[in-house]
Amino acid sequence: MTNTLETFIAALPKAELHLHIEGSLEPELMFALARRNRLALPYKSVEDLRSAYNFSNLQDFLDIYYAGAQVLRTEEDFHDLTLAYFTRAAADGVLHAEIFFDPQTHTDRGIPFATAVQGILSGMAAAQSRYAITSKLIMCFLRHLDEAAAFTTLHQAEPWFDKIAGIGLDSSERGHPPSKFARVFAAAGSAGLKRVAHAGEEGPAANVWEALNELHIDRLDHGNNALDDPTLIAHLAATQMTLTVCPLSNLRLRVVPNLQAHPIDKMLAQNLRATINSDDPAYFGGYIAENFKAVAQARNLTRAQLTTLARNSFLGAFLDDTTRQHYLSRLDDFA
Ligand code: ADE
Ligand code: ZN
Repeated sequence: MTNTLETFIAALPKAELHLHIEGSLEPELMFALARRNRLALPYKSVEDLRSAYNFSNLQDFLDIYYAGAQVLRTEEDFHDLTLAYFTRAAADGVLHAEIFFDPQTHTDRGIPFATAVQGILSGMAAAQSRYAITSKLIMCFLRHLDEAAAFTTLHQAEPWFDKIAGIGLDSSERGHPPSKFARVFAAAGSAGLKRVAHAGEEGPAANVWEALNELHIDRLDHGNNALDDPTLIAHLAATQMTLTVCPLSNLRLRVVPNLQAHPIDKMLAQNLRATINSDDPAYFGGYIAENFKAVAQARNLTRAQLTTLARNSFLGAFLDDTTRQHYLSRLDDFA
């Protein structure tokens, strides 16, 4: 039997480092949860909903994504959503995942922080026992909201600080530079939380500099536009900052005109620690293996390059040394 690209990618041991759990809400589950919670959706069918997933830019997507999340009401809803993601991740060869959630998307419509976090954590625990996938949770602040709201969210999270690995920053990048959240990130850092931020997705390379210098990030989400600044590229390479790159997201949000123009191999060629991730797979047409496959085909990536991308995912994960070595050995045994 030939080892096709697809079977190679599915078996390649990998970590997912950029996945919004709300962005893994498949239309079928959205309809099921709407029914369970007796809510009406403004779409006639799953097909009708899917046909609305045609985005011109990030904001276009965010409007639909926040509306979709409204079907999530109970702890059981968050649990089911999370376990459904891990079922897909297990099929894609994911050994470890560090997933995002957006607490403010839920608390702002009256869902307690505890409901969301407990449901997600119990889904993560179920995935660990069912699929042996390890995971960590990162809570993101919505950057279109203000600093005070982010501080409120950070305080709400305090009882769970031992179960939350870090904080992130997402939502509309244009007009909301990282510096707006410098003080919240400093407070989270003092509490021992890891720090990541979306930057350089739609915003300029200057936003990546700000995320580094003012938010003191441990990992950079997207970072595509860093490629506009040679000094920044050299800095990211020298410090081996991990970039969580999301090819199908970049395509669907028109960060790149087509996947043939995707810069993933340019990033590797410049010694950037790039990784492949799925961002919001229910909305962008594919989970992590589909992201690997689409960009591998479009850019003619070699198996050595795909293995480097997988290695980078374990190097960039927030793992202790023993677990990291264990996963890297599994990759060495495979490749
Ligand atoms: N929230 C969910 N996905 C996002 C993305 N790609 N960029 C910014 N915010 C997001
Ligand atoms: Zn994202």
